[in-house]
Amino acid sequence: MVSLSKLAANTLTADVITGSCAETQNLGEKIGRKITNRIIIALSGELGSGKTSFVQGLANGLEVPARFYVTSPTYSIIHEYPGRISLFHIDLYRLTDKDDIYDTGLYEILDSFGVFAIEWPDLLKNEFPAQYLSVHIEITGDDTRKFQITAFGNETASLITDL
Ligand SMILES: Nc1ncnc2c1ncn2[C@@H]1O[C@H](COP(=O)(O)OP(=O)(O)O)[C@@H](O)[C@H]1O
Ligand SMILES: [Mg+2]
Repeated sequence: MVSLSKLAANTLTADVITGSCAETQNLGEKIGRKITNRIIIALSGELGSGKTSFVQGLANGLEVPARFYVTSPTYSIIHEYPGRISLFHIDLYRLTDKDDIYDTGLYEILDSFGVFAIEWPDLLKNEFPAQYLSVHIEITGDDTRKFQITAFGNETASLITDL
């Protein structure tokens, strides 16, 4: 189930319901397949909502080889995977202070060419560029999740137009 709405100039939102982890991975894969340029994808939603599952699908869509199994970067903060475009899976859960971000080398990484999937992005949210994707996930049942995916900036809208 997908519905699209335009909330403000240059933003497009897709609401999607998934009924299993596999459906969430498929959603991530569909978006991943369409990505041809560097982009930040900010992932929010409580623990266990499916952020990492979504990134597993994203990796498939970016043609990350299957031997790389995408796991939560909570303790290492940044995982990098090779693909059509490099995938950087970032988890800021354990960082509480903006100064901590400097120590991780994240700012240098964000200047490189890649897809940056960021879990718990709040510390960075005031620094996102005009073009980025926000993925918010709500737990609506044991196996159901409600996705609100917002494309900020016209260049990102095509990523969510036929999900
Ligand atoms: N529709 C769904 N989408 C994603 N995960 C789901 C879904 N239904 C159940 N799950 C389960 O929820 C958990 C999601 O975990 P994970 O992707 O690591 O979440 P997060 O990274 O947000 O903490 C997994 O155990 C997964 O099997
Ligand atoms: Mg996670």
